Amino acid sequence: MKAVHHLCKFATIAAIFLAGCSAPHGQPRSDSEVLAPNEVLEFGPLFSENCAACHGAEGKGGAAIALANPVYLAIADDASIRKVIAQGVPGTAMPAFAQSAGGMLTDAQIDVITKEIRSRWSRRGILDAASVPPYAPKLAGDAQRGEAAYKTFCESCHGPVGRGGQKASAISDDSFLALVSNQSLRTILIAGRPELGAPDWRGNVPGRPMSDQEITDVVAWLASRRVSNPGQPYSASNNTQPQESEDAKRK
Ligand code: HEC
Ligand code: HEC
Repeated sequence: MKAVHHLCKFATIAAIFLAGCSAPHGQPRSDSEVLAPNEVLEFGPLFSENCAACHGAEGKGGAAIALANPVYLAIADDASIRKVIAQGVPGTAMPAFAQSAGGMLTDAQIDVITKEIRSRWSRRGILDAASVPPYAPKLAGDAQRGEAAYKTFCESCHGPVGRGGQKASAISDDSFLALVSNQSLRTILIAGRPELGAPDWRGNVPGRPMSDQEITDVVAWLASRRVSNPGQPYSASNNTQPQESEDAKRK
């Protein structure tokens, strides 16, 4: 056993020497060129090292939504996508990647990621643009109407008051709502999470796509159920720490 161990050590050392000898002194070998992290401009390694842990390998979805969702890419333009990548979404798990925002990626790297997400994963013409709800809400939401729309469109899967049902998980509990932005709720309502079997805005009630107003109202209802101290056993008034407005944090 020991002899084998020594043999391995010797082989390793020999390999290092041999590798060192094949290039003239002082010159880097052409096949050992290693790029500095901020010089990498290839989408594959950029995405797998920075994004795949949350958005899944090949953008197929994980803890965070699939980016390889053509419905998502049909509603979100490059400027919106780039802004989230660069600046992150404060108050959620989505980090800021731009160096100007404390991240690790250069502007050029963020451009590559933004461009390639679209060129690889979008499908032109899958939606009739006129009938798609806009990415950002244009109208004010009404939580009361949203509660009624929830019953029509969501309750069958997510259960009464969003507490979870047979077909889908709870979406109105403190801990979920505390970590998700209103935009992300809207994105999920419109684009679905096809990778998990969550329908897009057309599929909740067959033959009855949600209107822009209904989507905005359901998001307003979910948002109205956020509490300022999620997970606290005591009521908010028992907490003496000053609280930033939850809405301000999530803008
Ligand atoms: C630590 C987990 C994590 C990592 C790493 C991460 N994301 Fe995210 N991402 C999230 C979460 C969570 C959200 C939803 C945030 C919210 O609630 O708005 C999100 C949202 C997004 C959105 C916006 C979706 C929408 O609703 O419009 C884009 C685009 C995005 N991420 C791209 C990326 C890219 C590209 C990378 C890699 C450079 C990346 N993310 C890395 C967790 C992550
Ligand atoms: C046909 C069943 C079905 C209907 C109807 C439905 N969903 Fe879902 N939804 C799912 C499934 C399945 C998932 C993914 C797995 C899970 O979270 O349980 C999901 C996921 C979600 C998520 C993400 C949860 C997470 O943990 O990331 C949100 C938010 C959501 N749905 C909101 C809604 C809202 C709001 C409605 C109504 C407008 C709705 N859904 C209608 C089945 C459904």
